Amino acid sequence: PYSNRLFLYVNQTPYELVNPAPETTVLQFLRDQGLTGTKLGCAEGGCGACTIVIASLDPTTLRISHRSANGCLLPLCSLDGKQVITIEGIGNSKQPHPVQERLAALHGSQCGFCTPGIAMSLYALLRNNPEPTDHDIEDGFDGNLCRCTGYRPILDAAKTFSVAHDDPSPSPPSACPGQHSCGKSRCSEQEHLECRQKHADQIDDIEELQPIRLLEKHQFAPYEPATEMAFPEALVQY
Ligand code: FES
Ligand code: FES
Repeated sequence: PYSNRLFLYVNQTPYELVNPAPETTVLQFLRDQGLTGTKLGCAEGGCGACTIVIASLDPTTLRISHRSANGCLLPLCSLDGKQVITIEGIGNSKQPHPVQERLAALHGSQCGFCTPGIAMSLYALLRNNPEPTDHDIEDGFDGNLCRCTGYRPILDAAKTFSVAHDDPSPSPPSACPGQHSCGKSRCSEQEHLECRQKHADQIDDIEELQPIRLLEKHQFAPYEPATEMAFPEALVQY
């Protein structure tokens, strides 16, 4: 059946539109509503600045999926019965989402123009797969460009969600400057300091081999999938 009525949710807020203009994109609609966190960059699907997340219910399997999408290309009229999640819906500077907190703490944002899109791509990945690998994370950023930060700190922040990102133990055996030539497999903090003084010339070489991390995973708020935005009950019944 055809209808001139469009019913969707944006960040848990319902919108019912009558005769929406068919050429309106989701990005235009969001920005007209004052949700200006989602940016317009290239307007042709190439940069990812406009990335949002679309939550939808599969009527056959009854599974809810979360997909990232380019708001600059997606027609608003294609979103009947769906929920749009934008950067405003996941957190703010007072209560940042773990994705936002880690991007900020690990310097994954400079001018900030690409950042909402980067955050939403990572958010979409985590909603579908809370335990991604490094490879999943790199794949998840396929559609996002950043012109000023560089990708290294962005990936450093994103990879704190990776199952491969385990904090190193405080005193990994390879960090022993004496290579345990004293015969002990573990040593006290005092012994470790004395050993560092004795083998000072070797320390630079050893420390170069250690991964450099500004902050470790345990220093961030944990990612808790169970607390994420729910799919609106009204759309389940729709
Ligand atoms: Fe560049 Fe949408 S604005 S992909
Ligand atoms: Fe400036 Fe990415 S932070 S474009």
